[in-house]
Amino acid sequence: MNISLRQLRVFEAVVRHMNYTRAAEVLHLTQPAVSMQVRQLEEEVGLPLFEKLGRSMTLTEAGQEIYHYSQGINRALREMEDVMESLKGVNRGRLSVAVASTVNYFAPRLLAVFHQRYPGIALALDVTNREQLVRLLEANGVDMVLMGLPPEGVDVESEIFMDNPLVVVAPPDHSLAGVRDIPLERLAQEVFVLREPGSGTRQAMERFFTEHGIPFQRGMQMTRNEAIKQAVRAGLGLSVVSVHTIELELATGKLVVLDVAGFPIRRQWYLVYRHGKRLSPAARAFREFVLQEARRMAGDMPSWIPVPQQADLN
Ligand code: PGA
Repeated sequence: MNISLRQLRVFEAVVRHMNYTRAAEVLHLTQPAVSMQVRQLEEEVGLPLFEKLGRSMTLTEAGQEIYHYSQGINRALREMEDVMESLKGVNRGRLSVAVASTVNYFAPRLLAVFHQRYPGIALALDVTNREQLVRLLEANGVDMVLMGLPPEGVDVESEIFMDNPLVVVAPPDHSLAGVRDIPLERLAQEVFVLREPGSGTRQAMERFFTEHGIPFQRGMQMTRNEAIKQAVRAGLGLSVVSVHTIELELATGKLVVLDVAGFPIRRQWYLVYRHGKRLSPAARAFREFVLQEARRMAGDMPSWIPVPQQADLN
């Protein structure tokens, strides 16, 4: 078989996302280029690797076997790259960082300062939800991850670098806007717009409501924080989001935070990497930078947004 490493990398990305378009985005390729690589791999193997049932994709038995071996090959390749990177100085080399979609509201600011300080380091940024971040860590597919909670089943090192309070948001004309000390039970009467099941925000919100015995009503489900905010503004329901996603809407009065007992849900952002991973000088510099700079940046960001008084809303 004349299989190329490139084909295996593309194949692995398609499996990770089970979606050609999303894999193409992550790989910075076009969708036809991704399909072509997979087709060529299937021709080399002589068996189909994916099955399509309606709009959903699954791996065939051959696909599962190839995935198993390609993970091992890609892991070895990355380890080789890590070792080579560690032989270079801090002003050279590559660094791949993956962040939760919610982190992406401040990650570009952070990375811009890092880039100014270390212009020789080529940074690649992948923005995705919690579930995909856990898979990336499992596959050792990335140097550093910024996420809401370290995964349980993967052996990782993790360090807290910033607070991440989750709050209840509503449109400014909502009947609860400006009301003080809303009892948590009152939320049972409200519909909530939800992130997708792989989202860390959604997981934290569901856990919180379950722990407090609040049977909240499920509204529409959306994969992006931007869509959630638009839905809340349009009156489709309330939502629970990280304060880091709503800085702009609060400043312009497009959304308000409700003063609900028990909120904010107190979470933190973590810097995470595989335990035992040989960190390159670039990765070590990034770790130290995030731990210091993010704390400094957090001082400029609202960690808890004051709830507006009724008078402020009129
Ligand atoms: P997410 O954010 O909701 O975009 O997955 C990560 C997290 O809060 O854990």
